[in-house]
Amino acid sequence: MVGHEEYGFATRAIHEGQGNNPYGALATPIYMTSTFCFENVDDGMKKFSKEKPGFVYGRSGNPTTAALEAKCAAIEEGEAAVATSSGMGAISSVFMSLLKKGDHLIAGDTLYGGSDFAAHHLPEYGIEVTRVDTCDPAKVSVAFRTNTRIVYIESSLNPTLRINDICALADITHERGAILVVDNTFTPPPMCFPLRLGADIVLHSTTKYLNGHGDIIGGVVVGPADMIGSIRLIGLTKICGCPASPMNSWLVLRGMKTLDLRFRKHCENAMTVAKWLETQPEAESVFYPGLPSHPQHELSRRQFMEGLFGGMVSFEVKKPAGMNRFEATEKVMNSLKLFAVAVSLGDPDSLAEFPAGMTHLIVPKEEREAVGITDGLIRLSCGLEDAKDLCGDLKQALAAIR
Ligand SMILES: Cc1ncc(COP(=O)(O)O)c(C=O)c1O
Repeated sequence: MVGHEEYGFATRAIHEGQGNNPYGALATPIYMTSTFCFENVDDGMKKFSKEKPGFVYGRSGNPTTAALEAKCAAIEEGEAAVATSSGMGAISSVFMSLLKKGDHLIAGDTLYGGSDFAAHHLPEYGIEVTRVDTCDPAKVSVAFRTNTRIVYIESSLNPTLRINDICALADITHERGAILVVDNTFTPPPMCFPLRLGADIVLHSTTKYLNGHGDIIGGVVVGPADMIGSIRLIGLTKICGCPASPMNSWLVLRGMKTLDLRFRKHCENAMTVAKWLETQPEAESVFYPGLPSHPQHELSRRQFMEGLFGGMVSFEVKKPAGMNRFEATEKVMNSLKLFAVAVSLGDPDSLAEFPAGMTHLIVPKEEREAVGITDGLIRLSCGLEDAKDLCGDLKQALAAIR
């Protein structure tokens, strides 16, 4: 384990959480086991009662997963972490552990679809939910009740790429005695450190940038040791039962060794693509926090580190004469050759998503348009290819509606 202050982010992302293993292997071994043997009953009793550290059963902990948890806690600058089998497992474990019947949750009105679904269903368990535009802290202020326990936000809204002011929301939340939980999947370190900005808990779908290779589903929650302890015990182990598998933990550990390098390239490519799209007549508007035209560019510059603005770019296809906007966007999507038509993000391969035709298909048109999801919106996850090839692919796809 290396110190937070002495080393830079890239060094920590490689070295933290290496852990000890009996043979001194540099790469963390994959402990493929369901259970762990005790020396005797007394040893088992001590481990069950936490008098002695150690693993007892794979659903509550595993050495490979523990190494991943240590790495995630270190890079998000939290006390402890718990890894889950998916991002949704992380989110539902937080809700199921830290909320109870009679509590109130304030959640953003534009969340990733799965989180949106979870927030929608919590009232069935006796938990009150208020949905607000969390990009406007004044609206969050008036939503508090005496029983508000959690304010739940995403650092950058999907797919419109509006930004939440984490510092402002943390202040408001703490004044009212609640905790701020931030889904940092879109803006991982080294770009955004929500705990530094005042959040209490940060979580990720590790499926995305942390693993970074598009080959697993996973999640992680980072925060104070006592809260993480409850999330592991109640949400993860007892209710949701969704531990990260040792194999997937190992893949995310490996992926995170190159997080700094990869993420900077994602950001560089996204900036090039966003700037280029702004010059294209077929693109009506371009949403990227790094562009001065983004309504929260100043907040993004303040909140995000080292001029990093993320790997995601959204833009709207302009309606051409003689074709409706939905058809035109579908045609652009179908003409892409390099960008894969796929949901998800943070893979080496660039991906393109058409929210109105794919992820938000079941959302009534007026409802989605009210939060900026129009028939022309395309969301790009800019991968690690050459930026000129990404612009070239978009150019030939946009030519299809000329
Ligand atoms: C912002 C965000 N949070 C959470 C999730 C859920 O993660 P997973 O698919 O790993 O369950 C996603 C998935 O796309 C996401 O985009």
